[in-house]
Amino acid sequence: MLNPVEQTFWQERWVEGTTGWDLQGPHPAFATVVKLLAACGVDIAGARVFVPGAGRAHDGAAFARLGAEVVAEDFAPGAVAAAQALYRDERGLIIRQGDATVVPAAEIGTWDIVFDRAMLCALRPELRGAFLDAVARRLRSGGMHVVLLFDQIPVTPERPAGSGPPFQITVADYRGLAGERFAVATTEDWTTVWPAAKGAAATDKPRQMSETVVLARRKNSASEVLR
Ligand SMILES: C[S@@+](CC[C@H](N)C(=O)[O-])C[C@H]1O[C@@H](n2cnc3c(N)ncnc32)[C@H](O)[C@@H]1O
Repeated sequence: MLNPVEQTFWQERWVEGTTGWDLQGPHPAFATVVKLLAACGVDIAGARVFVPGAGRAHDGAAFARLGAEVVAEDFAPGAVAAAQALYRDERGLIIRQGDATVVPAAEIGTWDIVFDRAMLCALRPELRGAFLDAVARRLRSGGMHVVLLFDQIPVTPERPAGSGPPFQITVADYRGLAGERFAVATTEDWTTVWPAAKGAAATDKPRQMSETVVLARRKNSASEVLR
């Protein structure tokens, strides 16, 4: 269900323009994601791909360009507007407002891929269960949760352990959260390097973070009761 406190928090980021997670284009690990999906026997062309917490929808657009039918969703109106400004006319991509924890009845079990970059890791820990339940309800049996995990967030005096967003989640944490719903199929270590900010000096160190790529297959849902 829509959480107005969370929605206001994120909408303020969009209004202020503090969207430092944005990579100005598809995630640099996108080609790796494509390779791993192929190795797991998942065809992107023709697949139904759902992108929760899509932000500017760069990744949704990249899947659409490979022939997928994509819905990129965000509950912050500022995100939806920013994505539409970039990708309104992208063939195969629908950009809409919606809460990642709410699954329309007509869409239960209809998605082949849920692509999740900085969505699970953006959520306060107490919201993760409801989000993963929703991912499980969306995916058909055998469908893939593709998730990038900030698995090694440096601890600093300004950023004590356990603070966020983003919140650190390791692959072991993910396995624990996934429980009986998903089976990790494959993982690949990844370090994301952010594009240089406008006006940055040539000597400035580029910002980088570990974002391990995880592909987890939806187990057979036939006998399961989800919240
Ligand atoms: C850290 S940003 C990541 C955006 C994008 N995935 C990217 O990698 O650039 C997290 C996004 O999730 C959205 N969000 C957070 N909670 C959400 C929820 N419950 N439902 C839908 N969107 C949500 C926020 O509005 C924000 O745009």
